[in-house]
Amino acid sequence: MGPYYEHNFKTQVEQCDPPIAAIKVAMDSLINSGCQVYFGRWLIEGSPYVILFDIGSAAWNLDRWKGDLWDACSIGLPYHDREANDSLILGSLIAWFFKELTDQLRDERNIIAHFHEWQAGAGLVLSRSRKLPMATVFTTHATLLGRYLCAGNVDFYNNLDKFNLDKEAGERQIYHRCCLERAAVHCAHVFTTVSQITAVEANHMLHRNPDVVTPNGLNVKKFSAMHEFQNLHSTNKTQIQEFVRGHFYGHLDFNLEKTLFFFIAGRYEFSNKGADIFLESLSRLNYLLRVHKSDVTVVAFFIMPAKTNNFNVETLKGQAVRKQLWDTAQFAKEKFGKRLYEALLRGEIPDMNKILDRDDFTIMKRAIFATQIIFHPEFLSSTSPLLPMDYEEFVRGCHLGVFPSYYEPWGYTPGECTVMGIPSVTTNLSGFGCFMEEHVSDPAAYGIYIVDRRFRSADESCNQLTKFLFSFCQQSRRQRIIQRNRTERLSDLLDWRYLGRFYMHARHLALSRSFPDKFKMDPTATPPTEGFRYPRPPSVPPSPSASLHSTPHHSDEEDEEEDEEPYDEDDEAERDRQNIKVPFTLAPVPRRKKKQP
Ligand code: UDP
Ligand code: G6P
Repeated sequence: MGPYYEHNFKTQVEQCDPPIAAIKVAMDSLINSGCQVYFGRWLIEGSPYVILFDIGSAAWNLDRWKGDLWDACSIGLPYHDREANDSLILGSLIAWFFKELTDQLRDERNIIAHFHEWQAGAGLVLSRSRKLPMATVFTTHATLLGRYLCAGNVDFYNNLDKFNLDKEAGERQIYHRCCLERAAVHCAHVFTTVSQITAVEANHMLHRNPDVVTPNGLNVKKFSAMHEFQNLHSTNKTQIQEFVRGHFYGHLDFNLEKTLFFFIAGRYEFSNKGADIFLESLSRLNYLLRVHKSDVTVVAFFIMPAKTNNFNVETLKGQAVRKQLWDTAQFAKEKFGKRLYEALLRGEIPDMNKILDRDDFTIMKRAIFATQIIFHPEFLSSTSPLLPMDYEEFVRGCHLGVFPSYYEPWGYTPGECTVMGIPSVTTNLSGFGCFMEEHVSDPAAYGIYIVDRRFRSADESCNQLTKFLFSFCQQSRRQRIIQRNRTERLSDLLDWRYLGRFYMHARHLALSRSFPDKFKMDPTATPPTEGFRYPRPPSVPPSPSASLHSTPHHSDEEDEEEDEEPYDEDDEAERDRQNIKVPFTLAPVPRRKKKQP
């Protein structure tokens, strides 16, 4: 359920009749009162049903509904906060819909309503204050005040118990929003957050300990060919290399074969996302690479939407020049080939200095004229004239995702890297990082580097990040390939097929609390997760700083030769695979004893 937007509905939803008559009846009673409600299938994977409410069509009720909210929980909404007002209209429509639906269904079916984030809070609060017979779950993906406080450079985690919450919220003009969030949290039968770190935060910011942690999963697609993700890395990397050729046109004094691509991506919250410590660490890394006379070059991408006007002319020019050079080279190549061919037909070896004439040299000369960071202030798109790649293709083509966030309740970006077999840096302040620490014994060996931002100063965290980046740069190609194989093996852990169980648990718990006579459940039961730990890989860890080479000497030339071998025959990876096969297999989801009817 959510707000209706005409354009999105037309392009992303296939309208249809509800499969349950009671839903249609409930919708009709709203429609007959002048509200517009739509039903259909959302055209995404799984094609879920959606019920969408047109907020504009019901906006004339706003003042009355503000009164209802006030009567229910004494929360007032200021007229100028459009988002909060819209969320009240949506919530009022949803509570109204549920009233009609529960009247219809009565004892026939039980309803569980799962609300997400403060914007959905009003629907929950109103449904509960009207005592509708349904089970409710509320999930917060971050606390409102927590996000605001962190963005303001506050030493958040060391002062969790010291903030004057109402005062802080008031100063940021989000007092009423925080009240809605807190009301929803306390009204819900079951309260959940997306990670352990946000559970601690919620306990302090919202004064309720979450009943269940419901981590965010991904739809993991498995390729039929085991090393397909390695091939995809290679082809997408070629495309990034092309972009880099154009971008650094005129300054391309580094070897692209020895260039590593690092990136950070997400919303442009400079310190929350750790862009600040990434920049600082890049500078320290640069120093280390120079001191050690490393031949590796690092190109770092910042993919973060910021305010933009238009394309930077210089940047477009670089790409255009690169294309022109390519065309010129093709032209010269053809001419050269034709003359060589003609000479050979005549039985001559041509004079290489004369095979191209002066005009050709003029054309080539005209074409030649004209460790950085590339800031790409928009999300990626395959239709961009600059870097025409989808985000997924881009990630696959990079070597390392760097997400050293300070505030990150979950953090999809490192998880997405993992399922694509791309190593990443995360932190012990991110939900994802904590989750990995909990389930994997030696995350770094699997290409998940966890920076300690919780118990160290910013400077120490920077040093640790620099160390990770530097040791990554010291890896050979072969080691990177092995590491990518390991990273990809963690995918099962992040799959909804596994993580969905936490949602199911939350919903069963809500049923047992709202309908205790019908649904019985041990109140202390936890979702079954035992036996799910990724062990330390038995073979040499890929990081050279911590490893001994399996051969006494290892050079890049060797790497390039080894690189020609198919990876299925890669001894070390194979040994890894065999040794960790058994513990790696996911424990089958133990069936919950059917206590509930
Ligand atoms: N993302 C995207 N296009 C881009 C860069 C990022 O669609 O060019 C997506 C990325 O796939 C991820 C999301 O942005 O799913 C960022 O989510 P995350 O949980 O890391 O951060 P949040 O936005 O929740 O703070
Ligand atoms: C994949 C490809 C290899 C390629 C390698 C490059 O494994 O299958 O053909 O050589 O990527 O890895 P690198 O880490 O150097 O980009």
